[in-house]
Amino acid sequence: MYKKILLTGVNGQVGHALQQAFLKETAFADLVVSLDRSQLDLTDQDAIRRAVQTIQPDLIINPAAYTAVDKAESEPELAYAINAAAPQVLAEEAAKVGARLIHFSTDYVYAGNKLGTYVEEDTTQPLSVYGKSKLAGEEAIRSVGLPHLIFRTSWVYGAYGKNFLKTILRLAAERDELRIVADQFGAPTSSTSIANAVLSVMSNWQNELTGTYHLVNAGQTSWHGFAVAIVEEYNRIQMAHGLPLLKASAENIQAITTQDYPTPAARPANSCLDCTKLVTDFSVRLPDWHAALITELQAIS
Ligand SMILES: NC(=O)c1ccc[n+]([C@@H]2O[C@H](COP(=O)([O-])OP(=O)(O)OC[C@H]3O[C@@H](n4cnc5c(N)ncnc54)[C@H](OP(=O)(O)O)[C@@H]3O)[C@@H](O)[C@H]2O)c1
Repeated sequence: MYKKILLTGVNGQVGHALQQAFLKETAFADLVVSLDRSQLDLTDQDAIRRAVQTIQPDLIINPAAYTAVDKAESEPELAYAINAAAPQVLAEEAAKVGARLIHFSTDYVYAGNKLGTYVEEDTTQPLSVYGKSKLAGEEAIRSVGLPHLIFRTSWVYGAYGKNFLKTILRLAAERDELRIVADQFGAPTSSTSIANAVLSVMSNWQNELTGTYHLVNAGQTSWHGFAVAIVEEYNRIQMAHGLPLLKASAENIQAITTQDYPTPAARPANSCLDCTKLVTDFSVRLPDWHAALITELQAIS
């Protein structure tokens, strides 16, 4: 069905998970050309054009992004170059060679003040440079008009890469007590769940299905709830194997407010995304966030 797939950002969380998932699937294993930043720098638009023209893919998957949310406030030009200009060029080049495009976006395109879960048609109103640059990338792809899927995901973590899970495990090993924000809500989403869902979608993607989809693990929690679950489940696995527990216990994770933990970039208070459209159009349903967390922790332990 696919002849050649160009995958960017393979050293990132989602890029790495996709690469691993493709390697396990014999149908895809030989079709994927994976490029990291040293092989394809997305700030170099000529390099993007050359890569697409040389590889001649029929599908481009672009998980590469500028993801340093706070740093983006002081580096808007770089954030826009990678998150908005590069996806536009990828989309234009994809259209020229007749390829489809899968791209990733974020819960940070929303203001987070809705009462209830966001659906794809809700008004976007990013609070940060990062969110604005990602929204600009979405709009650029839509303006090109090629068959595409944009997956808005949230709170990505996993056994591989830098993320909240790794930070909590490190801090809980070092300290007796942690203070974690309890008034921002969303769905922690494992990179493995994202990769598995994308492969399922790819298997039954008809060209007429094009547009923007929420793609997150089911259920919701706060960052505090996520941190408590990480420590509890990690300790449970350690105990089962007779291995040492973390220094901080779940009871010693204090709930604080966003105001108590000021950051350069504002975050949405409500990042909860409804995935009904993904289920309806592709029959793809991601596992519950807590179950996905246990799977990811088992890969770490
Ligand atoms: N992380 C989250 O919590 C989160 C939440 C919602 C949505 N998303 C979206 O999900 C997608 C995947 O995110 P992720 O968590 O996998 O991000 P990530 O782990 O930060 O990986 C991003 C990748 O992009 C690469 N990259 C950065 N600048 C580049 C450039 N100029 N040229 C080529 N590659 C470049 C990085 O390369 P290096 O490895 O060389 O640095 C890295 O491999 C992104 O679209 C992101 O916006 C992420």
